[in-house]
Amino acid sequence: MKTLAERVIACCRELATFTEEPGSTTRTFLSLPMQDVHHALRVWMERLGMRVSVDAAGNLRGIRRLCASRKNYRQASRRLLIASHLDTVPNAGAFDGILGVVLGIALVEALADQCPDLMLEVIGFSEEEGVKFGVPFIGSRALVGTLDHALINSGVGHAIRAFGLDPADIPKARLTPDTIGYLEFHIEQGPVLESLGFPLGIVDAIAGQSRLMFTFTGAANHAGTTPMNLRRDAIAAAAEWIGCVEALAGNTPGLVATTGSISVEPNATNVIAGLVRATLDIRHPLDETREAALNQLTTSAEQICQRRGITLAREQRLNQAAVSMNPHLTGLLTQAVTDAGFPIHRIISGAGHDAMIIAPHVPAAMLFLRSPGGVSHHPDESVITEDVAAALEVGLKFIYLLEAAHV
Ligand code: GLV
Ligand code: MN
Ligand code: MN
Repeated sequence: MKTLAERVIACCRELATFTEEPGSTTRTFLSLPMQDVHHALRVWMERLGMRVSVDAAGNLRGIRRLCASRKNYRQASRRLLIASHLDTVPNAGAFDGILGVVLGIALVEALADQCPDLMLEVIGFSEEEGVKFGVPFIGSRALVGTLDHALINSGVGHAIRAFGLDPADIPKARLTPDTIGYLEFHIEQGPVLESLGFPLGIVDAIAGQSRLMFTFTGAANHAGTTPMNLRRDAIAAAAEWIGCVEALAGNTPGLVATTGSISVEPNATNVIAGLVRATLDIRHPLDETREAALNQLTTSAEQICQRRGITLAREQRLNQAAVSMNPHLTGLLTQAVTDAGFPIHRIISGAGHDAMIIAPHVPAAMLFLRSPGGVSHHPDESVITEDVAAALEVGLKFIYLLEAAHV
């Protein structure tokens, strides 16, 4: 497995050079470098005898439908999806998302002529991060039929057409009734496994998350002539609110809240800001706690704006409930990790994953690989060869356990 693991890592690193920003890795929904990633992975999958297509949401899909061995030529009637995403955040690392896709293909390669009675479909989702349109999970939502018309009729539909696909075909991307399970490999993106000295973690649940845009509208004016008490400064209001965001999260166990993007108009040193758009990303394993915190932060923004003569607008872009992984599939994954001789650690994911979109529709399980330094969404993101080999070993055992489970 070590050689295959080394090839998996080399493949992820090479694909990280397919980018919209030379010198760093940035690959958004259906961009030109995404086309190059599709091509490279398609060549590999076709060499392994997989049937490859791109669905109308831009997801790359490869199916190992038939047993590779001529002697055992037969078609399985149950399908296991192994999937993750191919898009990245700006200035990303080489492993977030794409590692799970490359591991899926590597598993098909590792199976070689072995012939489990399962159809394997490896999917590289087109969009999970929400970078291009501020809305995440576009790829996986197509599989479960929750891509709404408003979104498709927006820039998303245009990007789909520009990629040579037809948004009218999105319903054909839906999950098929023969799908019995979904498995996602992903780097942990946090420090827990490393701190325990464990290579792998089993995801129990994924924290819910909300994403919003808050727009603060004040009055742009001259920075030298407008007295402090006569200003309606949109940046000052937003800054005060951002302080509340950090303070509330700091004082609420398990809550994480982030203002990761702000834009300012007119954005000049000697002009009081007339308008600020600030994002909020807020997450907690308990939906009630997340919702209560969001209400509190909305009230804080309203009070700050009222006091400062600022108009506030709030647009919700994501309200994703926390999702548990399937206990039966997670049990099989736990068995596979134990059989492979690795320790068990169960974990709640603070990061969002495509598994949370699929899980309400198909039994889903997730395996985390340790993230050295806990670093992710950063070019220094990495993985350890032995951990990738461990994930491959566990993946193979899981496939055979699922085959035998008669799900
Ligand atoms: C996906 O990377 C997320 O933001 O959790
Ligand atoms: Mn990510
Ligand atoms: Mn990811």
